[in-house]
Amino acid sequence: MNDSEFKRIKEKIFKIDHTRYWGDDYDVRFYLVSIIKELKKKRIIDIGGGIGIISSELDKSNDRINLDSSFEDLKKCKKNNTEIQLICGSMMHLPFKEKSFDHAICAHILEVAKSIDLKNDNIMKENSIKRYPTIEKSLSEMSRIIKKSGSLYVTTPNNAYYNSNKLEYNELKKHIEQFFQKNEFCFFNTFPHTSKKYRKFNLANVMPKILFKIRNRQKVINSLVSKDKGVKRKSVSFFVRAFN
Ligand SMILES: C[S@@+](CC[C@H](N)C(=O)[O-])C[C@H]1O[C@@H](n2cnc3c(N)ncnc32)[C@H](O)[C@@H]1O
Repeated sequence: MNDSEFKRIKEKIFKIDHTRYWGDDYDVRFYLVSIIKELKKKRIIDIGGGIGIISSELDKSNDRINLDSSFEDLKKCKKNNTEIQLICGSMMHLPFKEKSFDHAICAHILEVAKSIDLKNDNIMKENSIKRYPTIEKSLSEMSRIIKKSGSLYVTTPNNAYYNSNKLEYNELKKHIEQFFQKNEFCFFNTFPHTSKKYRKFNLANVMPKILFKIRNRQKVINSLVSKDKGVKRKSVSFFVRAFN
């Protein structure tokens, strides 16, 4: 992704709803977009796709579906993208037959599922790893609707600067492995989280900003991705591609 593509996406988010900006110019979803824009002539669903930024970046030759529980978000998506099919529904009950899609996208929504279980105190524990029934139900639904040769793209937010119920390494890995045969698990932006309070002191925030000033955007984005070596790392977003 070059600078002009990046600016176009950022402007698009601000035009549709500025409160939905991804927060950082080096958010893992810019990496996701750089990968999925290569997909052509496929049937693809964006689960929890919100105002439709990611599905609108997919090539128009694809059959694109945005499913979200927010009717308001889908209305904003419709206003700006008439070719994307919209479905108001829940990630836990996907209204499709088995193996309906080549690919599914699940960007920054599994932590929403985790929050639901934390709120309801609905958590199971297995060998010290916590299991979240809402995540399990959602991933099992995603696996069900993806074709045998298909894949799921997952991203999660970076806990270096969000106090979200972000998934831990072991949790996310365990849940993905439960429902998918194979996965490519990647860390994104592992620069350390040096201050809880001040975002400007977090290297995870500062380093990509400096790198963007001196290097090509796509090269910086690619350099922020590192392969899983089985060891937990701090200050990280996850990018996972899971295969049925
Ligand atoms: C952080 S936003 C991410 C939006 C989009 N994936 C993106 O990355 O730009 C989370 C989205 O999940 C949606 N959502 C929350 N609970 C959901 C559920 N149970 N089923 C489907 N979507 C849900 C919200 O409406 C919101 O649009």
